[in-house]
Amino acid sequence: MDSFGIEIIFLILFGQWTSCACADTHWTYTGSVGQSQWSEYFPECGGAKQSPIAVETSQARHDPSLPPARPLGYRQLGDEPFTLTNNGHTVEMSLPRWMGLGGLPWQFTAVQLHLHWGSHGGLGGGSEHTINGHSYAAELHVVHYNSELYNNVSAAMRQSDGLAVLGVLIETGEDTNPAFENIINYLENIKHAGQSAPIPAFDVQSLLPLNLGPYFRYNGSLTTPPCYQSVLWTVFAESVAVSHVQMRKLETALFSGLAGESDSLPLQDNYRKPQPLNRRMVLASFSTDTVTTYSIGEVCAMVIGVLCGCIGLAVTIHFVIKTIRSTSSWDVLPSARPTSLPRSKETEKEPKQDVVFKTTSDPEKEEAAPQPEP
Ligand SMILES: *[C@@H]1O[C@H](CO)[C@@H](O)[C@H](O)[C@H]1NC(C)=O
Ligand SMILES: *[C@@H]1O[C@H](CO)[C@@H](O)[C@H](O)[C@H]1NC(C)=O
Repeated sequence: MDSFGIEIIFLILFGQWTSCACADTHWTYTGSVGQSQWSEYFPECGGAKQSPIAVETSQARHDPSLPPARPLGYRQLGDEPFTLTNNGHTVEMSLPRWMGLGGLPWQFTAVQLHLHWGSHGGLGGGSEHTINGHSYAAELHVVHYNSELYNNVSAAMRQSDGLAVLGVLIETGEDTNPAFENIINYLENIKHAGQSAPIPAFDVQSLLPLNLGPYFRYNGSLTTPPCYQSVLWTVFAESVAVSHVQMRKLETALFSGLAGESDSLPLQDNYRKPQPLNRRMVLASFSTDTVTTYSIGEVCAMVIGVLCGCIGLAVTIHFVIKTIRSTSSWDVLPSARPTSLPRSKETEKEPKQDVVFKTTSDPEKEEAAPQPEP
């Protein structure tokens, strides 16, 4: 408990990640030590392998050897509650040491998860990674360290093979997401920076998308100072959805300053802009030709659109065929048909009928062609 207390004090005083020489600089997302200035105080933030990135599915290379992401022990609850902390930059939840990540070149042990979000219900953005130019409302990061090579996360995060982070893109929808209630319901208890509260343990895997198969994989960095370039990223192609009410609570519940600070600002828009890709390769575990990252809403819209289109087409075809049958002539409007057309004129028109049908569709021609013969 003591070491945890010290860790919390470090978090408050020195920023989210720890105690490097430069870490007494209080960074923010906007303002005098905003994200455009980070690299002046934290040199690695100006590096060539920074995160987040703007993922373009057409530029990602399909690697069929990438297995589905494999969370280990995420569903196991244990006897202890989890701890939720407002560290002034985000809400962070510590993760028990039995949780890990498999399917990677080394064994990774879970450390913490945290969120990034916007301020307008997701409308102005909020996620860190973007996919094909699309910003999501928020993003969940589950941080793991390479426990096969390093003793602890502080040692690992300075090494190029030190960390593995799962990124989950979050959108808003109509339904309450019960998994996220386990966090959002307790934000009221950690309104101010430096506050922590125990929360009942829950199934952490329920925060992840159902389908852990399709994801993007690339080498990048911490998305907050000191921006160490030590992260093997897994960004899931499938997003998860929380309700508008849940998103609003996440955006408005927390403050970035200490309790009692009169100028404490709402903790909002704590997301970093996409960084240059610089020759890095982004791998996709799935074929980007066939799988795209449509939301449920978009899929519904597409299905309804296609159905309406089909019905419209069927009605049109039905109407055309019916009209052709009832008029037994190429005249589509019965009223326009001459009442007493001389026989010669009608026969004159007959060849034209064939031409018209040929240019439209063959099946109709077959149905309609025999009709002029009584
Ligand atoms: C982390 O590990 C490093 C090297 O193995 C060690 O020097 C350091 O004291 C450890 N830090 C913590 C917080 O345990
Ligand atoms: C990440 O970097 C390591 C070490 O340089 C390399 O072996 C690996 O292939 C890279 N992974 C990706 C997805 O680019």
